[in-house]
Amino acid sequence: MRRILVTSALPYANGHIHLGHLVEYIQTDIWVRFQKLRGHRCLYICADDTHGTAIMIRAQQEEIREEELIAQMQEAHLRDFAGFDVEFDNYGSTHSPENRTLCNEIWTAIRKAGLVEQKKVTQLYDLTAGTFLADRFVKGTCPKCKAPNQYGDNCDKCGAHYDPSDLIDPVSTLSGGTPEIRSADHLFINVEMLHGFLEEWTQRTGALQPEVANYLAGHFLQEPLHDWDVSRPAPYFGFEIPDSPGNYWYVWFDAPIGYIASSWVWCKKHGEKLDDWWRSQATEIHHFIGKDITYFHTLFWPAMLKTAGFRLPEKVHIHGFLTVNGEKMSKTKGTFIQASTYLEHLDPVYLRYFYASKLTPRVDDLDLNFDEFVAKVNSDMVGNVVNLASRTAKFGHETGLADGYPDDGGLFAQAAAEGREIAAAYEDGDFARAIRTILAMSDRANQYVEAQAPWNLQKDPAQHDELRRVCTVGLNLFRQIAVYLAPVLPRLARQTGQLLDDPITRWDQSQQPLLGRPVGKFEHMMQRITRKQIDAVISASTDHAGNNTHPSDAPAADASASDSDAPLKADPLSPEIGIEDFSRVDLRVVRVIAAEDVPGAQKLLKLTVSLGGDDRRTVFAGIKEAYPPQDLVGRLVVCAANLAPRKMKFGTSSGMIVASGPGGKDIFLLSPDPGAQPGQRVH
Ligand code: 2FM
Ligand code: ZN
Repeated sequence: MRRILVTSALPYANGHIHLGHLVEYIQTDIWVRFQKLRGHRCLYICADDTHGTAIMIRAQQEEIREEELIAQMQEAHLRDFAGFDVEFDNYGSTHSPENRTLCNEIWTAIRKAGLVEQKKVTQLYDLTAGTFLADRFVKGTCPKCKAPNQYGDNCDKCGAHYDPSDLIDPVSTLSGGTPEIRSADHLFINVEMLHGFLEEWTQRTGALQPEVANYLAGHFLQEPLHDWDVSRPAPYFGFEIPDSPGNYWYVWFDAPIGYIASSWVWCKKHGEKLDDWWRSQATEIHHFIGKDITYFHTLFWPAMLKTAGFRLPEKVHIHGFLTVNGEKMSKTKGTFIQASTYLEHLDPVYLRYFYASKLTPRVDDLDLNFDEFVAKVNSDMVGNVVNLASRTAKFGHETGLADGYPDDGGLFAQAAAEGREIAAAYEDGDFARAIRTILAMSDRANQYVEAQAPWNLQKDPAQHDELRRVCTVGLNLFRQIAVYLAPVLPRLARQTGQLLDDPITRWDQSQQPLLGRPVGKFEHMMQRITRKQIDAVISASTDHAGNNTHPSDAPAADASASDSDAPLKADPLSPEIGIEDFSRVDLRVVRVIAAEDVPGAQKLLKLTVSLGGDDRRTVFAGIKEAYPPQDLVGRLVVCAANLAPRKMKFGTSSGMIVASGPGGKDIFLLSPDPGAQPGQRVH
């Protein structure tokens, strides 16, 4: 039996849980339920992340004390998580006495190791609000490209990174006033002193996905690591640093320590020792996080743990962001959906299933496309898995289960053997693969039922023994599937346990059939989703005022949700590819010779492009909002020419036009300089 402690990132206490957050919590919950079902000792630990400027400001705006805001948010978070069957062993708070004690302990160890240095930091100070301004609370004109209305750390328009004090005409977003430059002493941790250890831990222990290890090697570890600024001067909502009065630990110092503090609360409740979980070689620690907070969890956090003598993470499981219908969540489009809004209209099991069917061990983003969501849930779950139960349970209720397991042509044995492969997929975080195997199993079981046609057997009393045999097979195959799906769909597992009067609690229940017992009355297990329900969620989530930027409610994918000064914010972590991968893409200069609207398509233009001579292609490009078709004719652009032709609703697209930008009106075609010839290869 393994002993495993699992965490999800601690959600900020200044905003509600939304579908972006749930990618992580549902994913972690599935992994934890899987481990428990396998018989391992496993704890799922989380807490609210309560400190920092954003929370202080929100409390001021709402004219309540921070403690009150934290308490309200914790209640709301717990309600949302419970609504999605996300079950923690302990859900704590970083604003707890346990966390304060542990921060002290870890800080003392870091001081003792000689890693703390004091340096002056120049920051913008808001005189009216009486506070230093974190980067996200200052706006002004970009010092490089002069774009107005840019945040204090980097420019959306030209991508430049700069210091807030370099902004032209800076304005505090708190008071609207002009901030002044002030300097204050800050405490820094010299992370570079742990460079050798971090090199080893990130590159050679298997704790990180290969693309993450490569990213760290390529972006950070080749150079000396920067000192990490871990203190903030008053006023700041957090813990005051005991040996530096008037200074507070920066929220990102005490937040991960909250993992240990919340575990400690659990230990106290259950009479266990914290060291058995956090300082023991016998425990595996697994963190689940989003890619935007990679830096904290793979460099600073292991450095802190190592220095203070805690167990290092066995694995940091890093996932991508959620997109909805292929785009960033948006309040104006109604795709920024809060957990509570979803729950008012839709069954949580749909989302658990859909996310599971899409999750892989890679850092890729996950797209929630509503058409796919409806189709997948209705066909895979309602039409396939649950259908298997509903077609057999009604008759099974009349016949009960046979005393011996009938000949089923090897179906049960095959599904039992596949349990090993499904378990390996869950263990690796490849839930998509686990689901594919389970669905194929369910297809085979449905074919069996279809061929045996219990509805015909039932009509003939002479066939009732046969009917019992068919129901025994059908229901046992269904139960096997319910065991395999139990981590994803605990409600279905519970209903199955009730139907057959044998609660599903262990993975190995998939290995033996249930025999010689009555079958309960079949209760409906899952309804089909309708498009109308989705439309109701979108409508309830649409901000008609177009307010898409409230910092406290911004999606997790959006750096404005935090007041962090992480070097890696929403920076997408693209997996590294070799030159040989890149050179497989045949990029060509092409000339647009015709461009036309595609009736009924919102974004597409149909382009006919020439690669020189007679070589012409039809390519559909999603650039309609940015380019009127007539402006394109005659233009040189770049086309990925060796893409397999793709059948689309409006025709076949034989290639892809290369462009940059986030989408909509902001799309920019790559154009070769005059002189380039159609057909030339782009190097
Ligand atoms: O990015 C965030 O939402 C942070 N609140 C996560 C903190 S995780 C941990 F380190 F505490
Ligand atoms: Zn700029």
